[in-house]
Amino acid sequence: MSWIQLIFVVDVNKVEPLSDALEAFMAQAITTENAGADEYYEVAFPGNPTWKKVQLTALFDDAIDVAPIVEFVQKQFADSAQTEIPVQIEKLVDQDWERVWLSSFKPIEVGSNLWICPSWCEPTDPNARNITLDPGLAFGTGTHATTHMCLRWLADQSLEGQRVLDYGSGTGILAIAALLSGASHADAVDIDPLAVAACDENAQRNGVTDQISSLLPEQLEPEPAHRYPLVIANILAEVILDLRETLLAHLQPNGTLLLTGILASQADRVIAAFGEKMSYTTHQQDQWCLIVATPKT
Ligand SMILES: C[S@@+](CC[C@H](N)C(=O)[O-])C[C@H]1O[C@@H](n2cnc3c(N)ncnc32)[C@H](O)[C@@H]1O
Repeated sequence: MSWIQLIFVVDVNKVEPLSDALEAFMAQAITTENAGADEYYEVAFPGNPTWKKVQLTALFDDAIDVAPIVEFVQKQFADSAQTEIPVQIEKLVDQDWERVWLSSFKPIEVGSNLWICPSWCEPTDPNARNITLDPGLAFGTGTHATTHMCLRWLADQSLEGQRVLDYGSGTGILAIAALLSGASHADAVDIDPLAVAACDENAQRNGVTDQISSLLPEQLEPEPAHRYPLVIANILAEVILDLRETLLAHLQPNGTLLLTGILASQADRVIAAFGEKMSYTTHQQDQWCLIVATPKT
């Protein structure tokens, strides 16, 4: 999956209507940051920054033609035809691996002794940890930078006997990788019924149906009797921020939280939202960031 981002610089009073308009054009995520040097803090909302000039970034599926969106924004939001709103259009290229994967269908080593292998290929190393996975509708073939960073991290863990939560599980790739690193069970949650079905299918393909529960969010207990020592979420930053309470509610007090789907420029905001009770390490691949949050010692 690839993305196109539109980056506008607007006066702060335009942020809300512009965000609403971009959402109506199917923006997948909208983020704002200060575009000027004159940052000040709103008295009524301590700690909540407001800025005079805001850089607003909207992320779109690259199948969408963004030219009419830019035209609409200029017509509706520019003060005059002479003072157009500054805009940059950037393609966020997911790795060429996506194309390589689809064209060559070869097993790929994605972490230490951890391989993704299409069902029609013989594993390169039958004794390695092999995940059988085919390209499909759900996100998560192992080659996206965010998935890849999680896989590399999971490959180096010893999760003996742990029950883990994979929130935003897509194909279930991370849940399966956690099992291959010793976890006893994975609860894989996704908002998309197609992903839930794909995860079930992949659990079957990998012979771990008894160890994976593939669930819609409403099927996960809101007030869990059982909390997880490891919670993984590879979703976009805005969604992770919305899910903060849920993710923390399911995490054991001494548990580890793996957060990605976050652009490197958004990492500080996510870390600030999850608070000072945890320690954070970050990893970066391309423009994406993986945050590993562990309890403070
Ligand atoms: C970037 S994909 C990650 C898939 C896989 N875990 C991986 O690492 O490759 C994000 C997944 O989160 C799901 N998702 C998005 N919003 C969600 C939400 N609010 N609750 C649960 N899942 C969500 C999407 O349907 C998608 O399958």
